[in-house]
Amino acid sequence: MSDLSFAPPRGMRDFYPEQMAVRNAIFSAWKQSAIRFGFEPYDSCVVENLDLLKRKGGEEITAQLYTFKDKSDRDLSLRAEMTPTLARMIVAKENEWVFPLKWFTIAQCFRYERMSRGRKREHYQWNLDIVGETSVAAEAEVVATALHALETMGLGAGDICVHVSSRAVLSDLMAHLGIPREHHAATFLALDKRGKVPDSEIASLLGESGLEAAHIESAFKVLGITSLEDVIALLGPSCSSTEQLQMFFNLMGSYGLSDQLKFDVAVIRGLGYYTGIVFEAFDTSRTFRAVFGGGRYDNLLADLGGKPCTAVGLGFGDVVVAELLADRGKLPHPAEYKDLAVSFMEETQRGAALATAQSLRRNGQSVDLSLHPEKPKHFFSRVGKAGFRRAIYIGPDDVARGAARIKDLINRSEAEFLLPQ
Ligand code: HAM
Repeated sequence: MSDLSFAPPRGMRDFYPEQMAVRNAIFSAWKQSAIRFGFEPYDSCVVENLDLLKRKGGEEITAQLYTFKDKSDRDLSLRAEMTPTLARMIVAKENEWVFPLKWFTIAQCFRYERMSRGRKREHYQWNLDIVGETSVAAEAEVVATALHALETMGLGAGDICVHVSSRAVLSDLMAHLGIPREHHAATFLALDKRGKVPDSEIASLLGESGLEAAHIESAFKVLGITSLEDVIALLGPSCSSTEQLQMFFNLMGSYGLSDQLKFDVAVIRGLGYYTGIVFEAFDTSRTFRAVFGGGRYDNLLADLGGKPCTAVGLGFGDVVVAELLADRGKLPHPAEYKDLAVSFMEETQRGAALATAQSLRRNGQSVDLSLHPEKPKHFFSRVGKAGFRRAIYIGPDDVARGAARIKDLINRSEAEFLLPQ
């Protein structure tokens, strides 16, 4: 036993009460915002069929799966993201739905990643998805919901910017520059690595996927475009992919969120299934990784064997936002459970202390009741260190007169408290 490590497995986290307070505050902002915007909760098991998660085509996520066999030799995996599971669940009952569906979940996801700041091997991911809506109103609604959650956590326009692009626009640009459409999917995944690996490595990847040297040069040229106006100038004013993107920006203006958006052709996303608008939210100083990311994935349900069905969604992890909140001094206070402590001097006052705690609990207050008699000095030192806000200590005299003192441990005031009869 002496070799036992007390650290969790590498990349996994323990949540002590202090970290739980942060996690709960984040989960609560996520849940409240999803419900405020009309999303319904759903869930599934963290263990998924490997076949569903394993995809062909060079996505990093496939190589990062935590896979295993069960005792009946089934190939399984811990989920790395929720989107394939959501698609499977919708296809499984595809004739039952009244579209569009607006669903949310908070899913623990596992990816065997190279560890770095903001990147763990396990994280919780809030997923917001709208299934069965073709209009870009769906993209606008999911992004607005995520920005609402960030605002609830105290992170607004000065803190967060959503970088937006469109795979459909990128595809049209590539086609315009002569890159054949059959190479676009591989080109997206290779270009998404920009900044993470040297351009020479991306060029080799593009070459390996069958792109000619001139087309490789064109692919890099696409990333040099800096404004939507330049895109429109290249593709012409009546191109449907750019129209969609413009419509999205207009809608976000109607939500009052224009100041939190920017066109950024470099947002491509590393997952293969996106087909239309894609976006990633970053802190405005670009210190951290993406806070959330998502986009339109109109073919995934059909690719899994379902009827054709459009979809839009995003994933928003707990790790980066917690780092950002800490950086901005906006981490929630862990005192939420430590409101009132009740204790007693001798066994004969246990009944009165218990009745006091129970009556306050029935009135909706959070009360910690001592489980054994304790000396007043010990009690007040203990609850002071633990950060309780208020305390009631019951001795024999208090029981005799039917009242005790309730002490505010923060401003040091006291008041009379009538003991329940
Ligand atoms: P993703 O960009 O791979 O998208 O992940 C979404 C978010 O999850 C990231 O922006 C980040 O906040 C968080 N995240 C991802 N991996 C890690 C990690 N290793 N450690 C910490 N946080 C992480 C997806 O997963 C898509 N399935 C999202 C989606 C939903 N698209 C449509 N619907």
